[in-house]
Amino acid sequence: MKVLLIGSGGREHALAWKLAQSPLLTKLYAAPGNPGIAEEAELVSLNVEDHAAVIAFCQKQAIDFVVVGPEAPLVAGLADDLRAAGFVVFGPSKAAAQLEGSKGFTKDICARYNIPTGAYQRFTAAEPAKAYIRKQGAPIVVKADGLAAGKGVTVAMTIDEALAAVDDCFAGAFGAAGAEVIVEAYLDGEEASFFCLSDGKTALALATAQDHKRVGDGDTGPNTGGMGAYSPAPVMTQDMVQRTMKEIIEPTIRGMAESGYPFTGVFFAGLMITAKGPELIEYNVRFGDPECQVLMMRLKSDLLPILYAASTGTLDQVSAEWCDEPALTVVMASKGYPGAYDKATPITHLPQARDGAKVFHAGTALKEGHLVATGGRVLNLTATASTVAEAQAKAYKLVDEVRWENGFCRRDIGWRALNRG
Ligand code: AMP
Ligand code: GLY
Repeated sequence: MKVLLIGSGGREHALAWKLAQSPLLTKLYAAPGNPGIAEEAELVSLNVEDHAAVIAFCQKQAIDFVVVGPEAPLVAGLADDLRAAGFVVFGPSKAAAQLEGSKGFTKDICARYNIPTGAYQRFTAAEPAKAYIRKQGAPIVVKADGLAAGKGVTVAMTIDEALAAVDDCFAGAFGAAGAEVIVEAYLDGEEASFFCLSDGKTALALATAQDHKRVGDGDTGPNTGGMGAYSPAPVMTQDMVQRTMKEIIEPTIRGMAESGYPFTGVFFAGLMITAKGPELIEYNVRFGDPECQVLMMRLKSDLLPILYAASTGTLDQVSAEWCDEPALTVVMASKGYPGAYDKATPITHLPQARDGAKVFHAGTALKEGHLVATGGRVLNLTATASTVAEAQAKAYKLVDEVRWENGFCRRDIGWRALNRG
């Protein structure tokens, strides 16, 4: 099978690494890819926003299967255009990607199908939103409806903070994404991520993970795309997974199909495990980054036929096997991230590959033959071991071998699992 993988981050490096191990694979291309992905795939310098160019490439190379990594091309309808041209694609249609692209859309599906989530209202003007906030009281959560690069959510501990967030949204702080605002009840509990494939009718549960969204140790400082993750998430017991499937995932699959937008691809459910059980915070319609990296380290099965089954309505014919051992990844980012940072800073040494350990490239490039950091999040030092503590020690050993002056990382990835003892 000839496969084209779309994307260039650590998530795509992990997908490429796993896809490259498939005996079914004859050729892997990646667009645009990165120097880590180049070890697994042939890089193609396609402009992914130019759907006609992607289609032309697929036709020329007789691509059998396209795997889309990030959300932006899905929300832009790349999967639809490729399917219309006759290609098999992993990833939802533009209409189904609204589950990630519009928080209001997702909340309405939850309301219609009785999916547990925080009570909410949608607003297109500031005054009614503010009146609702005053009535509900704090803590309360204010969200821009659309994609805002993870920045559109304010968990307000005071009414004033919530009112200010409403003003920010309508003043254009998040551009078009803030034209509508969702105000929702604050959920108290422990967060976990749950990953599950769907082919539009069937669900295949994958695995659980926990991310570390704040930039600083002890979960301090601003939000980021994720500074590290581990899998599985201990809070996601067998019972919690079963409840999530039954109370959240299955009604969503049914709701999407009945609404005329059958969902194919991966559900990345952001959950709050409250005293009542799992409640949905949000859906993403792609693998998490860096959660995907730890999932791929733990997946024993061949990834390619599983993703292909999800894309061809045959998910009921496959299964996924997982290593019981936990995996943990530490993100190294450019100093200054998630704010401004220097670009093209040199990385002069990376650790050697070894058993149960892997360095994924997230934001790197080659400049005159030398490896440089180009992104905010740059490297994912990833390890598996028989305990989270050992995986953590192994991952930080990799971190300490990296020579990159402008890099930093959190030193406490995995703390929640370790505190459980
Ligand atoms: P989101 O972009 O919707 O995942 O929100 C970003 C973060 O805000 C989540 O990971 C949670 O930590 C927090 N958050 C979002 N919604 C709620 C809520 N209803 N209650 C408590 N925390 C929330
Ligand atoms: N790590 C969170 C995300 O991928 O959205």
